[in-house]
Amino acid sequence: MASRRASDRLIQTGSVKINGAVVTHPGTRLNPRSDRVCVNGQAIQSVDRQTYILLHKPPGYLVSARDPHHAQTIYKLLRGIDARVFPVGRLDLDTRGVLLLMDDGDLSFRLTHPRYRVKKVYRAWVRGHPGEAVLTGMREGVKLSDGVTASAHIRVMRARGGDTELELVLHEGRKRQVKRMCEAAGHRVRSLTRTHFAGITTRHLELGQWRYLTQAEVKRLRELVGLNHEQ
Ligand code: URA
Repeated sequence: MASRRASDRLIQTGSVKINGAVVTHPGTRLNPRSDRVCVNGQAIQSVDRQTYILLHKPPGYLVSARDPHHAQTIYKLLRGIDARVFPVGRLDLDTRGVLLLMDDGDLSFRLTHPRYRVKKVYRAWVRGHPGEAVLTGMREGVKLSDGVTASAHIRVMRARGGDTELELVLHEGRKRQVKRMCEAAGHRVRSLTRTHFAGITTRHLELGQWRYLTQAEVKRLRELVGLNHEQ
């Protein structure tokens, strides 16, 4: 909310309270997740107070609000997080890979809105071997029940037995989009992984593990969709 020097002045003049007590030492350390900071009586909502999680989602875990009727939801994997975080978009029960969760509604909305064209990368093993004409059709747009898909980058990675692995780069996020696109082209998806969401990957995270996003990652995500990190 202020430059470092202006913040020092605010602290030295007694305008800043941490958990109700005035602090006058500019080097005072605090925990941005749990300490409450007020300046001139007004609470500061720090971006650090919000919680941003990256989960390496395994197959077999449902992405849904806490559902007591479904034994295996992603929240089973998120023990120890006290904030109420919500998934940014959905992954199917059998899909694995990058899933962001957060309690920042503005950012989540923009990350999933097609207007912001946030890039998602998938690896899909499909039945059969799609030919060049089929791939071109998929790249240019596939007619689905909810309209024609936007153009996409699609390339063949490898073939094994009767299956082919495709990489698909999409800028929209319709329900079951990859599976529906591949099915419409005559190639059923056998397994699906989201490898990137807005440039974030599951590197260094085992299947089922999660971590907090770094401040730099949050800043980059917010800037990517036109939200100012400092606000
Ligand atoms: N597209 C799908 O079909 N399923 C997912 O889980 C994600 C994208």
